[in-house]
Amino acid sequence: MRISVIGTGYLGAVHAAGMAELGFDVVGVDIDAAKVESLNQGRMPFYEPNSDPLLDKHVGKGLRFTTDMAEIADADVHFVCVGTPQRKNSLAADMAFVNSSIDAMIPFLKDGSLVVGKSTVPVGTAEKLAERIEVATPESVSVELAWNPEFLREGFAVQDTLHPDRLVFGVNGDNAEGILREVYARAIGDDTPVVVTDLPTAELVKVAANSFLATKISFINAMAEICDVTGADVTALADAIGHDERIGRKFLNAGVGFGGGCLPKDIRAFSARASELGAGQSLAFLNEVDAINLRRREQVVNLVREHLGTLHGRRVAVLGAAFKPDSDDVRDSPALSIAGQLHLAGAQVSVYDPKAMPNAARIFPTLNYADSATEAIADAEAVLHLTEWPEFRELDPAVIGADVANKLMIDGRNLLDRDAYRQAGWTYVGLGRP
Ligand code: UGA
Repeated sequence: MRISVIGTGYLGAVHAAGMAELGFDVVGVDIDAAKVESLNQGRMPFYEPNSDPLLDKHVGKGLRFTTDMAEIADADVHFVCVGTPQRKNSLAADMAFVNSSIDAMIPFLKDGSLVVGKSTVPVGTAEKLAERIEVATPESVSVELAWNPEFLREGFAVQDTLHPDRLVFGVNGDNAEGILREVYARAIGDDTPVVVTDLPTAELVKVAANSFLATKISFINAMAEICDVTGADVTALADAIGHDERIGRKFLNAGVGFGGGCLPKDIRAFSARASELGAGQSLAFLNEVDAINLRRREQVVNLVREHLGTLHGRRVAVLGAAFKPDSDDVRDSPALSIAGQLHLAGAQVSVYDPKAMPNAARIFPTLNYADSATEAIADAEAVLHLTEWPEFRELDPAVIGADVANKLMIDGRNLLDRDAYRQAGWTYVGLGRP
């Protein structure tokens, strides 16, 4: 079976390499020539653990990348993996890349082929795209469309692609399910659960899952706000409620909140879509989830101001720029947003991140970027732990205490050893923790 993957971002590039690992002949298509060149040299254009070896293993054998859409003509299955970012002038998703990819693909779709959407889209999109394809292809060419949402997490993208925790097939025709079962035969053989459903349900599964995760994080962050005014400890609270299997401990880490290219824009797009459908009330709670999340960033800025008296001219070290560890992605990153707000309020901010410095410098060039955590910390009046890279937990509070001008540690992830910091003479401030 021949496979094409349209869009080679975090999702598409890893999906293409994963499909090659499963033994398929794969062509990846992207409009960005620099990305295509990097991929053809066996280098992911971003940091994603374990993905370079996979790419290197298959490029030039069963896997190739191109900017030329005509090269998809041989493929039997086409995965659409392009981005659906937030629109510049509203909360809704920008569908321009999905629509332009489908239009560019149409002339090259062969009879009997299957187009499989993976991008996160507003519910109702798949049915419209199926119609668009039907209208634009000649009568002799029959093409089906399916929706197969992706649940991969950055940092674990290879594992999530090869060993997904579930497969969702949104189908509307006879052949699609069989073809998808063939594509994912290995995972299905490993007992991965498969949910076969209609197109709108499959589209909704994705945004419902991300909305639930975002709600869980904002729930515990709301509890952190209550802990702050009562002197209670949100970490112990999360441990205690997390023992209830119905609640579960995962995604109950209070801190600076969620960011990245998915959760924030997905809840906004979902809520915007519900309003379009006349069901805005049903998702009104997502606006509160968003508001709680954004308050976390302000709260950290306020904490620094309270502890230092003013931000103007104060030296602040920010540990972390990526939206989470094991990623170089800075899209809507709480760490970078806080660093930026402090800088705009007059602080001298020095940022260090093990992987995300080039991306951070591109979108926030006016911050100072240090070459190491210790360089960022040197002479700081406040140190902020905002992305939980393991190397930040390994810093010895006694050693780094000798380098700072003021021993103030604000732990935006509630993960540092609070007692060790206090014993070394630091003022340790957690979020929702005494
Ligand atoms: C998220 C979902 O977890 C994936 O299942 C989904 O496929 C993906 O979006 C997507 O839509 O493509 P990802 O954006 O990689 O994956 O990041 P997450 O691991 O979900 O983390 C999101 C944010 O929540 C990060 O900023 C993280 O630091 C934060 N977070 C996570 C918390 O603040 N507390 C927690 O307890 C967990």
